[in-house]
Amino acid sequence: MDYQAWLKFQHDQSITRLFANISPWDAVPGVVIASPERNSPNYYFHWVRDAALTMDLVTSLYLDSQGSRRQSLREKLMEYARFSRRNQLSPTRSGIGEPKFNVDGTGYGLDWCRPQNDGPALRALTLIRFANDLLDHGEVDLVRSSLYGAQLPANTVVKADLEYVSHHWKDMNCEIWEEVQGDHFYTRLVQKSALMAGSLLARRLGDVAASAWYESRAHMIQPELFWDQSKGVFVPSLNVKGETKNKSSGLDSQVVLAILHAGSQSGISVADARVMDTVRTLKDRFASLYSINRIPGAAGVAIGRYPEDIYDGGDWKGGNPWVLITAAFASMHYLQAAELAEQGRLAKARAHFNEGDLFLKRLQYHANPDGSLSEQFHRDTGFMMSARDLTWSHAEFVQAVRHRRASRKLLAAPGE
Ligand code: NOJ
Ligand code: NOJ
Repeated sequence: MDYQAWLKFQHDQSITRLFANISPWDAVPGVVIASPERNSPNYYFHWVRDAALTMDLVTSLYLDSQGSRRQSLREKLMEYARFSRRNQLSPTRSGIGEPKFNVDGTGYGLDWCRPQNDGPALRALTLIRFANDLLDHGEVDLVRSSLYGAQLPANTVVKADLEYVSHHWKDMNCEIWEEVQGDHFYTRLVQKSALMAGSLLARRLGDVAASAWYESRAHMIQPELFWDQSKGVFVPSLNVKGETKNKSSGLDSQVVLAILHAGSQSGISVADARVMDTVRTLKDRFASLYSINRIPGAAGVAIGRYPEDIYDGGDWKGGNPWVLITAAFASMHYLQAAELAEQGRLAKARAHFNEGDLFLKRLQYHANPDGSLSEQFHRDTGFMMSARDLTWSHAEFVQAVRHRRASRKLLAAPGE
């Protein structure tokens, strides 16, 4: 299939498959399963991070839609908000930072790397976008009663997350790959953005003291500390405790996801020279790491979590490239293209746009013909593997297509 036709096909497939993973029949409404896969790996759970990132895309779709579609997406967002509040109130082993829930809303009671403090920040970021739109439409009472009320102790979902983030951002916790305890760039960056967005929402609702408090905490978070001058990259973690997973390279794609997911409120621009350097260094490392990146005639580079990774979804036979990360690298290049275009640097902008396309063309090369996307694809054979129809893979792919569309308009580039 030609690239443009595939983009359209895969986009529509990803939307359908993503919605199939929201509130499946045997789950409480508002659940976002990480994948329909229940065996090796069993991903039939509501992960706070995956769910928030998925519902952030749903928020964008909601903001773009009208009529009955808008109504139905709004109901899904309300269900997600209600389920999230229920998660906060469930007895769990790590409270608000609990990373994953059973589909009946009870906490996952077994051992796990916890707490994961990116979760409450991402959940707040998503629901704050929703809340702001409701306020734009005059729905103050609904926002106060179901998303952000000023009362303390907090009795609404966003307020509870913001209180947690503002009081616990310094705490040691587990990172997004659920392996390393310490302080993390991804977590800190999304915490900073959540506090900035939370401060604005609080002010909008007249909760002036809380607004000042959230803002003051946001200013205390210093993502610059993670810049490693000698390696020329943002490193993922500092003050690592216990097992280190031998991550000696200091290279980890989660720092690129951080910039994307924290958005412009984090204070670090996609066009920051340090971000550009980090992205390039990671790309070069993965280009040489996986043999599929040397297939003659296959465009672009497949990107994984970090070079030392050995998690393959079941056994520990070696790390692989991930769909969601390769898509996120495309998004990063499209966003950089848009930023460069706005600065009037058109030739450079076009080059970044084309580089973004190469990551999506790489996904096209390995994607299943039926439109399903898994978590990983094998580093030597290129076949999809690990959790099938990972919700986050579909969400990150759709985000890439959306970023592509936005920067294409600025560049007057052809196609989808
Ligand atoms: C499952 C996690 O989701 C994955 O990221 C991790 O590598 C393994 N558990 C090992 O902790
Ligand atoms: C493993 C990933 O490392 C983690 O980030 C994710 O939340 C879970 N899988 C569920 O998709």
